[in-house]
Amino acid sequence: MKKLNGKLTKLNIAVFISGRGSNLRSIILDSLKKNSVYKVKIVISNKKKAKGLLLAKKKGIKNYIVDFTKSKKLGLEVLRKLNKNKIKLVCLAGFMKIVPSYFIKQYKGKIINIHPSLLPKYKGLDTHKRVILNKEKFTGCTVHYVNKLLDSGKIIIQERISLKKKDTVQSIKKKVLKLEHKIYPIAIKKVLITL
Ligand code: GRF
Repeated sequence: MKKLNGKLTKLNIAVFISGRGSNLRSIILDSLKKNSVYKVKIVISNKKKAKGLLLAKKKGIKNYIVDFTKSKKLGLEVLRKLNKNKIKLVCLAGFMKIVPSYFIKQYKGKIINIHPSLLPKYKGLDTHKRVILNKEKFTGCTVHYVNKLLDSGKIIIQERISLKKKDTVQSIKKKVLKLEHKIYPIAIKKVLITL
C-alpha cells in the first residue's frame, strides 16, 4: 500500500496467463480481501481461448489478448500498457511463453513466476511425470523471479509435499496446484514490500 495525497492506494499488478487461470483466480480472490495491499489491474493472455480471461472479464479487470512474444512491436506496446497502468509487479501464472530479454530488462526484478516443482529440480514441462520416474520422495512448487534462463531466477518461496507410492501425475497435479494457490499470493506480498 502506498500513500498518495494522504490516501492509501493499492499497488497495481499484472497477471499473464495462457490457459485455465486457477492461479489467477487465487490471486484475484486474495486481492479482493479486506486490507489487501494490491490490485490486479491488467490480465494479459497470449491465447484467445484462455479460460482465465472469463474470470478477468467477470471481475471487470482490463484484459488483453496479445502474444507479445511474437514481435518487439507488440512487446513494447504491452510495456507501454504496464507503464500507463502503473504496474509494479508482473506475475506469470501458467504463462507458457518465454518472456523476451528486452522485456525482462525493462521490468528488472519485477517479474515473477510459479513453477510446479522444487526448483532448481525439474525445470520446464512434465515435471510430475519426471518426479514419478525418478522415484522422488518429495515434490512441490516454487515462486521465483524471472530471468532470461528458463525457471532459473532467484527463489522467493517454495513449499513441498511428500509423495506416496500410489501417487499419479493427476494426484500430484491436484495436490501441487492447491499449494500453488496458497503460496502465490504470499509470494506477491513478500515481493511487493521490497519494491
Ligand atoms: C500451474 O501448474 C503453474 O505452476 C504452471 O502452469 C499451471 C497453470 O495453471 N506454470 P493455471 O492456469 O494457473 O490453472
